[in-house]
Amino acid sequence: MRPTPPPRTYRVKSFGCQMNVYDGERMGELLAAEGIAPAAEGAEADLVVLNTCHIREKAVDRVYSDIGRLRREDGTVPLIAVAGCVAQAEGEEIMARAPSVAMVVGPQAYHRLPGLIAEATAGRRAVDTDMPAETKFGALPARRKVGPSAFLTVQEGCDKFCTYCVVPYTRGAEVSRPFSDIFGEAEKLVEAGAKELTLIGQNVNAWSGTDAAGRASGLDGLIRALAKLPALARIRYTTSHPADMTEGLIAAHGEVEKLMPFLHLPVQSGSDRVLKAMNRSHTADSYLKLLERVRAVRPDIALSGDFIVGFPGETEAEFEDTLRLIDTVGYAQCFSFKYSPRPGTPAATMPGQIAPEVMDERLQRLQAAVNRDQYAFNRAAVGRRCTVLVERKGKLPGQWLGKSPWLQSVHFEGDAAIGELVEVELTHGAPNSLHAEMVASAGA
Ligand code: 5AD
Ligand code: SF4
Repeated sequence: MRPTPPPRTYRVKSFGCQMNVYDGERMGELLAAEGIAPAAEGAEADLVVLNTCHIREKAVDRVYSDIGRLRREDGTVPLIAVAGCVAQAEGEEIMARAPSVAMVVGPQAYHRLPGLIAEATAGRRAVDTDMPAETKFGALPARRKVGPSAFLTVQEGCDKFCTYCVVPYTRGAEVSRPFSDIFGEAEKLVEAGAKELTLIGQNVNAWSGTDAAGRASGLDGLIRALAKLPALARIRYTTSHPADMTEGLIAAHGEVEKLMPFLHLPVQSGSDRVLKAMNRSHTADSYLKLLERVRAVRPDIALSGDFIVGFPGETEAEFEDTLRLIDTVGYAQCFSFKYSPRPGTPAATMPGQIAPEVMDERLQRLQAAVNRDQYAFNRAAVGRRCTVLVERKGKLPGQWLGKSPWLQSVHFEGDAAIGELVEVELTHGAPNSLHAEMVASAGA
């Protein structure tokens, strides 16, 4: 690699989960603090960060094709950094296979990006996939510009080791950010205009810490403390594991008004044999009982889940157990995936790998069931009054788009502005969104 002038503009492209979206934003802030400006819409950037996801197949192929597409007509390339979980898992290989990549940086090391850029501009290719003991959060610049709804990482990594999943390897062990760090960042986000905070973590409900009074606290304690911030209107959290749904967190759903009535609680399968083979620590029944307890304190709660079809050895009858569980729950929304063998995970070498056609067919049936339930959930909301947090303009003139407390997309027309909480009546339910009429402004 030849030395290159320092980059003046950057673009971060994030793939995958919300945590990557958050990391991508923070990398952008870090680059901006270094005097590198975001590239204008449509313009080429001097520095491109591909913030990758490794959770399912084709991620690696996609990274290579994205790298290829960054080559300009004159044959030159921008400074390319591969970040995120593919970088963590395959950093050395990317460096060997893709000469146009200048930097590889893992999800726990991206606060060191300025140093890597200095190396790269000096003509040396740079790799950092350390999981340093010092936290990256302390080294990142403070939050400044945010939208009405902001993500806030409170916990990272996972110790659950579900047999299909790469996260414990790419993101490392479960680590909770200290209470005071989180609270400080929340205050900054709210000052910068955030009305809603979504606390994120691979296993967010495993968060633990010590509150301002020195008491041991779980996620519920953190939520209760954040709810005291006057300008903060809404709190959400994702993604949770059933094993960490504590009594206190369930109770918070009934008691903390700012905690929105929405729970994303992945179950993955409705078959106890499959759940065991996945190393999930719950059964279908214990999961359903948990949901009943949440519904008892918050009857209108919108439930969301993740499903994997075609886990090795999954029989038709076991798949039907999953469909039955879906019928029982009546989800407001779901994410569903075909099982994808991840190198290095125990399930990748299990016998009974399922044929792609079978997976396709099961995924279609499962998605038909969850789409049906999502549509029913949206229609059942018609006639309700609720607040909508306005996030952007809609497609039509005078139209606004925001989220209901149940995380539904809601369109409405009227005198509103981005960042306002508007009182509406839901008037029409479509499969993926709702229409509403404004009742009154509930205040900015
Ligand atoms: N194959 C398919 N889906 C997976 N997920 C995680 N690992 C895999 C895999 N190997 C899904 C799970 C998880 C979500 C984030 O991604 O459903 O909850
Ligand atoms: Fe992966 Fe399971 Fe951890 Fe979720 S709980 S991140 S699926 S290992």
